Amino acid sequence: MSGGPPQHISLPSISRQSPAELGGPGSVLLRQRRDHAELDGLMNAWLAAGADAPSRDRLWRDFVRLVFSHAFAEETVLWPVLRRVAPDGEELTRRVEEEHQAVNDLLARVEADKGDPRRAEWIEEAFRLVREDIRDEEDLLLPRLRAALDDRRLRRVGAVWEAVRLAAPTRPHPAVSRRPPGNALAGVPLSGFDRLRDLIAVDSPTGRRAALALAALASGVAVTAWARRTARRRGSR
Ligand SMILES: [Fe+2]
Ligand SMILES: [Fe+2]
Repeated sequence: MSGGPPQHISLPSISRQSPAELGGPGSVLLRQRRDHAELDGLMNAWLAAGADAPSRDRLWRDFVRLVFSHAFAEETVLWPVLRRVAPDGEELTRRVEEEHQAVNDLLARVEADKGDPRRAEWIEEAFRLVREDIRDEEDLLLPRLRAALDDRRLRRVGAVWEAVRLAAPTRPHPAVSRRPPGNALAGVPLSGFDRLRDLIAVDSPTGRRAALALAALASGVAVTAWARRTARRRGSR
């Protein structure tokens, strides 16, 4: 980045505030903190498990699923709000979007070549980037949402964030845009494909055919819904 470190206004980190100070149960800030703690636990458990421990694969799968659905919901719901309410929102969200892209690229590499001897090295680098992303969010981005939104709005944003998170892609897709509407249009149909892959083994011809059929169905449903909305809007003009 040019021009030296950015001069950010100093607000208290959300990591040091009580649930009530963060908007109470359901607030997007508490939901963020819950996921960050879970990611931290999964990373620590993966690092503590030995190289040949069978639990490592499950820990890795849970980590990948959470990291992608969490980041997709941030990019779709939270960062557009932050860009509207914080004067330095554009610069801060660009910074975390770059972190998300770097994590996405590393995880795609790890998933593509399961036998590469550098796999553990890539995973540890991805963990380092995720920890950096969590620090940026808890110390810089999320305190700005706390300052700009009252408790009721923090809870409303929390409900929308959670809904998008539950329908989000759960695997790396390097071609997906990091900003709406591109990320949502591409991401929601892909999420059907990912969730089916999570449920069944697609490394078989039958599984692959079923997954592709679901992806086609999901994109068809998304396109039909979009076309209907557009037609309705045109009709009401
Ligand atoms: Fe986050
Ligand atoms: Fe993030």
